[in-house]
Amino acid sequence: MIMTIMGNGDGIIRPFISENYWKYGTTHWIEWDMMKNGYRFLLSGPSGSGKTTLAQGILSKIARHVPESEIYVLDYKNIDFAYLEGAKRYFKHDSSTDGFLEFYDIFETRLSHNATYPWLILYIDEYPSWLLSLPSKEQKELMSKMARLLNLSRAKQIHICVSCQKPLADLFSSGSRESFSHKVLLQAPSKETVTMLMPNYKDVIETCPTGVGYMTVNDTTLTKVRVPFPQNVDAMHRDLRNAVNR
Ligand SMILES: Nc1ncnc2c1ncn2[C@@H]1O[C@H](COP(=O)(O)OP(=O)(O)O)[C@@H](O)[C@H]1O
Ligand SMILES: [Mg+2]
Repeated sequence: MIMTIMGNGDGIIRPFISENYWKYGTTHWIEWDMMKNGYRFLLSGPSGSGKTTLAQGILSKIARHVPESEIYVLDYKNIDFAYLEGAKRYFKHDSSTDGFLEFYDIFETRLSHNATYPWLILYIDEYPSWLLSLPSKEQKELMSKMARLLNLSRAKQIHICVSCQKPLADLFSSGSRESFSHKVLLQAPSKETVTMLMPNYKDVIETCPTGVGYMTVNDTTLTKVRVPFPQNVDAMHRDLRNAVNR
């Protein structure tokens, strides 16, 4: 059985374990210090591969371990986050654009000041569904804002996390897909997706079960990872809701 560690405000989260250790019976958690730098996560994989589950794990751990963190959840599909209904920074379906613009304004304000701020996190579930639902002029405007966010938010206490079945380059203007520091591919990625995100490793990446896949950090150090299914879903929802409504 895998035990999770209680929150203590130290900024350290453990989102998943190393599959290579797990295979040999050892639980080795991958650790990230969420108060060190802005992370840019791209979570990819086919429908049902575990992207939203992983995202909820990452976000609820940030909520618990990063004091005062404020999380925006944009849920265009309006399926998996019903428990956030009514929370201040939860934006579903067509209101996703309002949430994005509100977040973007805070980012621009931070950009023009030198100060220390609470950690701010933007999560966009199924990014293409939201973007492609909009007229093309608006898509272009939002994509250029997204590119600016990805390029310039790192030193402004901002983390960005995007989930996306197929992270086509066209969805990220000015080559900004390359700004993602942490790329995760879950389950059975198509050759096409592997070539998009992890071209250097296309010969070693294999089909995996739900919740298992690969991660690269700054396009190097390929690690095979396993997302343990959350033991206490209610507590996870409660932690995330706190930071969405803080
Ligand atoms: N890490 C995991 N371990 C076991 N089952 C998982 C895991 N992640 C997801 N699942 C199962 O797979 C289903 C789909 O997961 P979900 O996170 O919604 O995938 P996606 O967002 O990629 O469509 C979930 O309902 C859950 O039951
Ligand atoms: Mg999902």
